[in-house]
Amino acid sequence: MGFIDELKAKAKADKKMIVLPESMDKRTFEAAEKILKEGIANIAIIGTKEEIEANGAGYDLTGAVIIDPMTDPNKQKYIDKFVELRAKKGVTPEIAKEQMEKDYMYYACLMCKCGDADGVVSGACHSTGNTIRPALQLLKTKPGISSVSGFFLMEVPDCDMGENGLFVFADCAVNTDFDSPKLAEIAVLSAESFKSFVGAEPKVAMLSYSTKGSAKHDDVTKVSEAVKIVQETRPDICVDGELQLDAALVASVGELKAPGSPVAGHANTLVFPSLEAGNIGYKLVQRLAKANAYGPVLQGLAMPVNDLSRGCYADDIVGVVAMTAVQAQQQG
Ligand code: ACO
Repeated sequence: MGFIDELKAKAKADKKMIVLPESMDKRTFEAAEKILKEGIANIAIIGTKEEIEANGAGYDLTGAVIIDPMTDPNKQKYIDKFVELRAKKGVTPEIAKEQMEKDYMYYACLMCKCGDADGVVSGACHSTGNTIRPALQLLKTKPGISSVSGFFLMEVPDCDMGENGLFVFADCAVNTDFDSPKLAEIAVLSAESFKSFVGAEPKVAMLSYSTKGSAKHDDVTKVSEAVKIVQETRPDICVDGELQLDAALVASVGELKAPGSPVAGHANTLVFPSLEAGNIGYKLVQRLAKANAYGPVLQGLAMPVNDLSRGCYADDIVGVVAMTAVQAQQQG
């Protein structure tokens, strides 16, 4: 069974309610039909009667909950919650209502916050920033976590590296500015994500253009300091760095450049030193190695919300819904 089929099986075992707020896009309905038919999750779609008729016609949506943001009887509850959470930021009932009617991502996050849904998948026709900002503002981070980050679960065909070709790559999506403590937190969250999605022990490589002091620069120190923080705060996590990518992945190079390292040559969780490196790195592997790239999956949020690529197919939405449902199961 492939990675995504295993995830779907997990999702089916304890069905969660996942919101799809992009009723303005036909791929939402194509995906919803598949998800409902396969029994992967319960689905709520946010859209007016006109949007549902225009884009959902011809799809079998039996079992989907349709939320019309203009007539929903729960709307006042969500407006009240929005104001409660954001009054200090200037949100009044009028602003809340307008924002929820204009941007269904806010509506979806408020459904989660009020316990009416377990997770959200969006981004087929919205940018990453616009998809995740409402979640950052309304759902916030898990207790003890300072920063949300985004990983890709990479499935590389015909690959004997990582966990039979499975890797977590992070942060590829969210944080434009890292210091050592933030990088350490991303490493810890990524190790936990690898463990929970792949089921094997994470071996975390903190990547750089230097291996174990081969180059000197503040950028290198930032990574080696982050390694120390993880080693001190989470001695249960197998982590090493700073490591160059070849030293992290190729056993012979790892032995040469970082002899005795528990990670070098065997890494399955790659933590990149910047958003540029992470974002470019996952796309290189996706395009040149023809890898499946599932994500970006957000880690560290109090409830699961996940983004889609705007070039996604309906099947990609199905996969991300399965991942979101499994995250929701893990959060109880
Ligand atoms: N973790 C937790 N909370 C955060 C984070 C974070 N990483 N970043 C921002 N926030 C919170 C802020 O504290 C703030 O909360 P508040 O309003 O309660 O005070 C709220 O989110 C908004 O913060 P801003 O800094 O005003 O948000 P902004 O919209 O400027 O930026 C964002 C946040 C959207 C995540 C931004 O960092 C961003 O655009 N990142 C890059 C996204 C991107 O383009 N990725 C690459 C493409 S993805 C791909 O290729 C698949």
